[in-house]
Amino acid sequence: MKTAIVIAAVLAAACCGNVLKAENVTVNTPGTSLVLGADKGKKLKHLYYGTRLTDADVRGLKAAGAANVNAYPDYGVDPEREAAIAAVHADGNMTLDLVVDGVSSSKSGDASVTTVKLRDSHYPFFVNVNYRTYPGLDIIETWTDISHSENRPVTLTRFASGYLPVRYGNVWLSNLYGSWGNEARLDCQPIAHGMKVIKNRDGVRNSATAHSEVMLSLDGRPRENGGRVIGAALCYDGNYRLAVDTDAGNWHHLIAGIDEDQSEYHLKPGETFTTPVLALSYSGEGLGGVSRNFHRWGRERRMAHGDQLRDVLLNSWEGVYFDIKEPEMDQMMADIAAMGGELFVMDDGWFGVKYPRDNATQGLGDWIVDTRKLPGGIKGLTEAARRHGVKFGIWIEPEMVNTRSELFEKHPEYVIKAQHRQPTYGRGKTQMVLDMANPAVQDLVFTVVDTLLTNYPDISYIKWDANMPIRNHGSQYLSADDQSHLYIDYHRGFHKTLDRIRAKYPDVIMQACASGGGRANYGFLPWFDEFWTSDNTDALQRVYIQWGTSYFYPAIAMASHISAAPNHQTHRTMNLKYRTDVAMSGRLGMEIQPQKMTEAERSQCHKAIEDYKLIRPVVQQGDLYRLLSPYDGLGAASLMYVSPDKDRAAFFWWKTEAFRNKQYPRVPMAGLDPEKTYRVQELNRVDKVPLKFEGRSYSGRYLMENGLEMPVNLTVDNPDEWSSRVLMLTAE
Ligand code: GLA
Repeated sequence: MKTAIVIAAVLAAACCGNVLKAENVTVNTPGTSLVLGADKGKKLKHLYYGTRLTDADVRGLKAAGAANVNAYPDYGVDPEREAAIAAVHADGNMTLDLVVDGVSSSKSGDASVTTVKLRDSHYPFFVNVNYRTYPGLDIIETWTDISHSENRPVTLTRFASGYLPVRYGNVWLSNLYGSWGNEARLDCQPIAHGMKVIKNRDGVRNSATAHSEVMLSLDGRPRENGGRVIGAALCYDGNYRLAVDTDAGNWHHLIAGIDEDQSEYHLKPGETFTTPVLALSYSGEGLGGVSRNFHRWGRERRMAHGDQLRDVLLNSWEGVYFDIKEPEMDQMMADIAAMGGELFVMDDGWFGVKYPRDNATQGLGDWIVDTRKLPGGIKGLTEAARRHGVKFGIWIEPEMVNTRSELFEKHPEYVIKAQHRQPTYGRGKTQMVLDMANPAVQDLVFTVVDTLLTNYPDISYIKWDANMPIRNHGSQYLSADDQSHLYIDYHRGFHKTLDRIRAKYPDVIMQACASGGGRANYGFLPWFDEFWTSDNTDALQRVYIQWGTSYFYPAIAMASHISAAPNHQTHRTMNLKYRTDVAMSGRLGMEIQPQKMTEAERSQCHKAIEDYKLIRPVVQQGDLYRLLSPYDGLGAASLMYVSPDKDRAAFFWWKTEAFRNKQYPRVPMAGLDPEKTYRVQELNRVDKVPLKFEGRSYSGRYLMENGLEMPVNLTVDNPDEWSSRVLMLTAE
């Protein structure tokens, strides 16, 4: 049921005679409601979050049993509970007592914002708790604005974006963990008593290890397409902390925000501290329902150009690594053009004069073309791209510097470094992080991008990398008193710089990369179009990495490239069909030296790219239905995308275990219209004989109740143990 969004501050009569006593604030989306008790002068109470309520439900909420716990718990009144906010006042008082001062609603474009104003019962200390909704989307964004007018700075020691109580029961937590090359692994367990904390302290990137998103399945073991699920995504690009605390009461307490460790914040009188957005979603349609809600919101509201189809590209990294040379670049452009691709991206290795970027030990910071390698410069490359009929993209890592660079020689004060300490270096044993808290560094980073895009307006894509965490915690720019602001001010500086870039270059496509999948977070996506999902391009492992990433991120955001066999990270050999079939389930690209492929392999890729274009709108803009999880260990994985009008679908099936005579389950489809009839066509076919159901038609009902039998082996001349299938379904 989709109805227009209604945000209502409803005055509900609490039946004490005829006295209008309580104010309930109801934030509605088409399918969900969040209800707060906001009596003036009292604590703000969380009453409900879940399926959309009727007016009668809202009136009867408390009688039915509602959470009725503090909606933004402050340290002071209930000190035994986890707090969302804590502060030390100018006079040293360590407690807060925030009470409701008023409720307002406003419009920001077509979004509706409900703001509950809280103020301390004694001190001039204020918190606005905000809730934003958009037409047609089952997402509620919440964040807070913290300010005061005390006579000296107040120290914030806790400043979560939001808090959510979840009724104790058989609640399971799904979250993502990982490491370089093994990002977005799925963890899933019942929530036990005590506290589960998911956090990141990298300083620069924040999704290679844990992710700042969780799903809470309320009806026991998580199901993909059934059961009540709450999803929460902290949209932040820096250090974060998500805690689920389960005490002896009836509620699990979820608190999410910036990680406050080593980050106490000195808030000046009149200054406002705005916390990052925590996006919440609820669905009665299982994990998949929540994923689809996040994907739609992501594409429509939270990422750059979420409504534009992405180009098929070739990236030079795994093809030539640092060995950038003009003839090879030219040849790669010709090759990707011949295979039907639309964009070529020149990766690391193109810059540095005094310290040429021949390897990772030098050159970062000196964004000047190395004319030994590229005599025609970038202009020569963009002209070549034009000649070949492809667009041109380029790699940069502008937040970083090598000590072996002209930039470091000129500006050693730009790096993050603790006083009196021998620095610890990053990649190449010479890499350091530039201090984005410093406005001069912000200007420098803006100028790197501005110079490239002004001098070479044909650059249509930037791969923005970040290959080092903050080590040597210390800012040479911030005052001694405000050293604890570094983690936060780094990201504020980063945002300011990206705002300037986007204001001047709204159309350029930007990829967020950070040693692979270190920047897969909605905190980056407002400025970025996509992320590099992992440096691991092994197709089998990518099935798992992309599966986890799809919990919150749509396929359009997930760069997914066909690479060489054996794979450079796992040394595993997967057949080319399998490699293409996995890459085709995300934003398809290639990361390979085409000259090392046979003519037959190049033409197979050409066919895969042509076929991908047939399903590109469904994969990149459709609704995802995960069907068979690789984590279930049943030998295969499967998912599908369905267009919003349910006229077209793309079905993917990949073997994940290869054992002789193993039994594989048959996979029922999902998301189709049971009443429609769909014609089935295999894409990226390599078999000598067509599948038995090729070209046949089936009802959506049949496909969703039974699925189609996937032959477990390819019928090719030299089959190996791996097989996969991509089907296109078209309603007749
Ligand atoms: C990082 C990225 C890679 C590549 C290299 C270049 O590791 O994740 O994709 O761009 O840097 O040095």
